[in-house]
Amino acid sequence: RFGALTDRFGRRHTKLRVSVTDRCNLRCRYCMPAEGVPVAPRDELLTFEELERVVRIATELGVTQVRLTGGEPLVRKNLDVLVAKLAALPGVRDLALSTNAVLLAEQADALRAAGLQRVNISLDVLDPAAFKAITRRDDYDRVVAGIEAARGVGFDSIKVNVVSLRGVTEDQVVPFGNFARDTGLEVRFIEYMPLDASSEWERGRVLFAADIRRALEEAIQPLAPISEPTGSPATEYEFADGVGRIGFIPTVSQPFCATCDRFRLTADGKLRNCLFSHDEVDLRGPLREGADDAAIAALMQQAIAAKGPGHQINTDQFVQPARTMSAIGG
Ligand code: GTP
Ligand code: 5AD
Ligand code: SF4
Repeated sequence: RFGALTDRFGRRHTKLRVSVTDRCNLRCRYCMPAEGVPVAPRDELLTFEELERVVRIATELGVTQVRLTGGEPLVRKNLDVLVAKLAALPGVRDLALSTNAVLLAEQADALRAAGLQRVNISLDVLDPAAFKAITRRDDYDRVVAGIEAARGVGFDSIKVNVVSLRGVTEDQVVPFGNFARDTGLEVRFIEYMPLDASSEWERGRVLFAADIRRALEEAIQPLAPISEPTGSPATEYEFADGVGRIGFIPTVSQPFCATCDRFRLTADGKLRNCLFSHDEVDLRGPLREGADDAAIAALMQQAIAAKGPGHQINTDQFVQPARTMSAIGG
């Protein structure tokens, strides 16, 4: 109805990542300090009705895939109610969730029943002590229970997202390779990006996809590519015997910006055209001041029109955005 969300570089934006809260129940060291980061007051969070409206308008601009993120999305009360509203929108063809799974065991049934199609679960280590060391919380068993519950309710896809840190998680690579083979779940290794609250990121802390691939092939088996790099951040591989799927999200060593097809809505109602952008377009104000659908659509088009070519992590021009991953939405 309103035309497509195509930017200056010809990239069409069909994926909207919706953060439903900037709060998180873990305190991962590579993301935030032990005391956490300041969070938005509740009245600044978009309501489910506001979120439903924004997503509906986005679908009228060509968005077909919606992913709920946070912070940790499952700490937002009654998330299944939002899922049901979004799943009912005719333009939403793919509805997914990115979660740390701490609260998933208790919510998986309701989320699936409400129409959630896919979940991506963040888990960086496969060991309770290492989990506590990274996340500062003793919740490893709950995550494992969350994964089991997700498998039990039959989501269309469950992937495990592993942020890899040089000097910290090398010893987890092969266990995750075997985990992918044993469970049939796709494991995707993500390169660490400069989005942490303490600005401690350094290139030397990134465990690169190529290194991980080499370690997996040496210890387990050769990996054969099963997908080309696309707008989806992951390049996917399969072990030579066909058992076990591995993905790499080489955000630093091989950015996918040139084919980027996604934009974000923060929990406090700002549109971001890039994880690393320095500008946001406010929707909360207009939504609460009675803007009509066409005005909201125009703001979305404005946000996309202002999108730059991509992140500058690999240049000396790079400036970390003011907001961190948990405030932007993962
Ligand atoms: P699928 O549809 O399952 O492929 O989802 P996804 O991989 O797009 O979503 P997910 O939330 O699982 O993202 C996995 C990781 O990809 C995130 O943790 C980020 O590290 C990275 N990522 C996601 N979106 C972006 C992005 O827009 N830019 C960059 N640079 N990295 C991103
Ligand atoms: N770089 C890469 N991925 C990150 N995540 C959080 N912070 C970073 C970062 N600095 C991941 C989480 C989760 C996803 C939503 O984002 O671990 O997998
Ligand atoms: Fe897209 Fe920005 Fe992420 Fe690059 S860094 S893939 S342009 S959102």
